[in-house]
Amino acid sequence: MKKTVLVSGGAGFIGSHVTVELIQAGYDVVVADNFSNCDRTCFEGVKRITGKEDIPLEVMDFCDMEAVKALFQKYPIDAVIHFAAYKAVGESVAQPLKYYKNNLTSFLNVLEAAQEKGSFVLFSSSATVYGEPDSVPVTEATPRKPATSPYGNTKTICEDILRDTVKASEGKLKGILLRYFNPIGAHPSALIGELPRGVPNNLVPFITQTAIGKRECLSIFGNDYPTPDGTCLRDYIDIVDLAKAHVFAVSRMVEGKMKQDCEVFNVGTGRPVSVLELVNAFEKVNGVKLNYKFAPRRAGDVTAIWADPTLANTEMGWKATRTVEETLKAAWAWEKHLAGK
Ligand code: WQD
Repeated sequence: MKKTVLVSGGAGFIGSHVTVELIQAGYDVVVADNFSNCDRTCFEGVKRITGKEDIPLEVMDFCDMEAVKALFQKYPIDAVIHFAAYKAVGESVAQPLKYYKNNLTSFLNVLEAAQEKGSFVLFSSSATVYGEPDSVPVTEATPRKPATSPYGNTKTICEDILRDTVKASEGKLKGILLRYFNPIGAHPSALIGELPRGVPNNLVPFITQTAIGKRECLSIFGNDYPTPDGTCLRDYIDIVDLAKAHVFAVSRMVEGKMKQDCEVFNVGTGRPVSVLELVNAFEKVNGVKLNYKFAPRRAGDVTAIWADPTLANTEMGWKATRTVEETLKAAWAWEKHLAGK
């Protein structure tokens, strides 16, 4: 009997890549999105990649409890992966109430409906909960630190909400927290990828938009950090590797392989890469010259963080396999696809 997975925010960057991998792994997927932060490009791309024209799409807002309840009544949801949230760090600092209201309300509604239905819950968390770690690499036991933005704080709060609700449910509700490091790249088909609205906050879309000529110049925020080349270190994980981690996590839940009712896994490569290394790799692998300059540090940036992914590797059997070069090639192919090149 095929299992059904609801992907909230499933038309977005991570959601669309996860939908592809779930379908290709044999799951039925329901995509639900309010399209507040993306258009139909990626959803249409998912249909082309999978060859499945009849993927159920529910256009709805997860802050609307009635709509969420109706969704869980309409489909036999075995597991829900919750992506639907606002995610711009800078915007969350300027508009905290918008972020707390949307990101917490939507998750509370999903959790309540999942608990009623007995669906497993997978929450899209972030390495941002570690703040500036005292030591690297970080494991799942590394203490979380106060978030440096309301966006990051909504991740921390949602982790606690899931943990407490699972504990009180005495085995009726189970869930997994996946802490992503820095998701980058695009599907090798170049039919889905990152589609930031306006000026990209994140590094790789800014790089590709600069290379294609949409942006004048990339600013590298700070080259005076205590790192080998002075620029920040991150754990950049290929979006397809990240998407596959969700398939491993869903099967762990629905096939009864969980060892605790609420589990947390770091989803990273375990390999630190600096901003400058990423820029140089992008230029080399794509044969393009990037216009960049060094600029002052960006407030709130962490000097260095990367994952110890051992737990996900051993417990879930998942491991990142794509190289940074492959990922940057796919990112560039996606940008060229968007430009019709
Ligand atoms: C990476 C590095 C920047 C842009 C954020 C969120 C995290 C997750 C991933 C959502 C930093 C540098 C960037 C630029 C630059 N988001 N940079 N010039 O800040 O590590 O993580 O995105 O889930 O929660 O916190 O990612 O890509 O913004 O920055 O030099 O134009 O690139 O200073 O060192 P970050 P990022």
